[in-house]
Amino acid sequence: MKFSSLVQRISGEGADAWNTHARARAARERGESVILLSVGDPDLDSPLEVVDRAIECLRAGDTHYTPATGRVPLRDAIAAQHRRRCGQEVDRDNVAFLAGAQNALFATSLCIAGPGDEVLALEPLYPTYPAALEVSGARMIRVPARADFRVDLAALEALITPRTRAIFFATPNNPSGVIMTEADIAALGQLARRHSLWVVVDEVYAGLAPQGHVPSLAATLPDQVVTISSLSKSHSMPGWRAGWMVGPKALITHVEALSLCMLYGLPGFIQEAAVTALGVAPAAEARMREYCATRCAVLLAGLDGIPGLRCFVPDAGMFMLVDVRETGLSGHDFMIELYASEGVSVIDGGAFGADTRGFVRVCFATDEPVLREACARIRRFVASLRTSSSLRTPSSASAAS
Ligand SMILES: Cc1ncc(COP(=O)(O)O)c(C=O)c1O
Repeated sequence: MKFSSLVQRISGEGADAWNTHARARAARERGESVILLSVGDPDLDSPLEVVDRAIECLRAGDTHYTPATGRVPLRDAIAAQHRRRCGQEVDRDNVAFLAGAQNALFATSLCIAGPGDEVLALEPLYPTYPAALEVSGARMIRVPARADFRVDLAALEALITPRTRAIFFATPNNPSGVIMTEADIAALGQLARRHSLWVVVDEVYAGLAPQGHVPSLAATLPDQVVTISSLSKSHSMPGWRAGWMVGPKALITHVEALSLCMLYGLPGFIQEAAVTALGVAPAAEARMREYCATRCAVLLAGLDGIPGLRCFVPDAGMFMLVDVRETGLSGHDFMIELYASEGVSVIDGGAFGADTRGFVRVCFATDEPVLREACARIRRFVASLRTSSSLRTPSSASAAS
């Protein structure tokens, strides 16, 4: 039997990047002593009041169909948070509640581009982007970053063609943790305005940025900016699949039609719990920021002085890029060999684009003792490389601060 051309567009690099992670997860389920630092799924519980609210709603029978873009009180709460965070005057008609930021990215892609169009994605980029951005039939063009993983505006401008429809990026970025500066975002906005491009900003980690805020273009370019976010990272609620987009009303109308044929609404008890979550957002986000800051420090201290490793300190988020080139291994081989010898899973930086080849991404959103043990295992692994007969020749690694 034949399958559609779409199945090829969605089965690329994004899927491959997670093989070691999938093996590690299966090993953990079998009770093996593996440590997963390969996924941004914090080992913190969801806020208790949010869990209580969901249970209360379930018990009260909130198990029926709901509106395609979400219930009004929830969309009002999302609009209010967006107004506070981005300074853009929006209301419920600018908001669609969807099944996580991933679903919002997917829905946005389908509504703003199609075959023959190009969409620009700033590297380094989250490995689900290629499939999510090309699902519409548009071609995703990667925009290389500068050596410090910040946006290369000249490279971005050079890649704009008459076919370009949109610029996609995440701030804070996954995997680099870089927050786009006011100056960079303003310059990017000028390009978008000049060329009439959509700007799709993935802000899932914004709640983890200092004061829960990142520079935003939304108020400056309200007809062109789509802001995507969720409760997954800010509240440690990834399994709830609670995310949204905020954008121009005309876009939300199209997303509503798409959502109607794709989801037909999302669970009411989750939406009610999401309202509670947004109500406690300042405390929930502060909890996550504190959690991430402490663990980032533990990871930095644990990797300090390991010969051949250089840490790139993130502005925010739950990931750290570690340059492994001086060990003589590629990011891919480091990932494979570290897991094989020590049972610690990380992700090859190459999965996020060419700029992060030679790095691995380490998620530090885990228990401190586990993180310390992981660092000890990584130290032992790197030492074993140095003493092994196949002593590697260091490659020409460039510095990443
Ligand atoms: C940059 C980025 N965007 C989107 C997502 C997906 O978020 P959600 O769980 O809200 O779908 C992730 C998850 O790790 C991410 O890192």
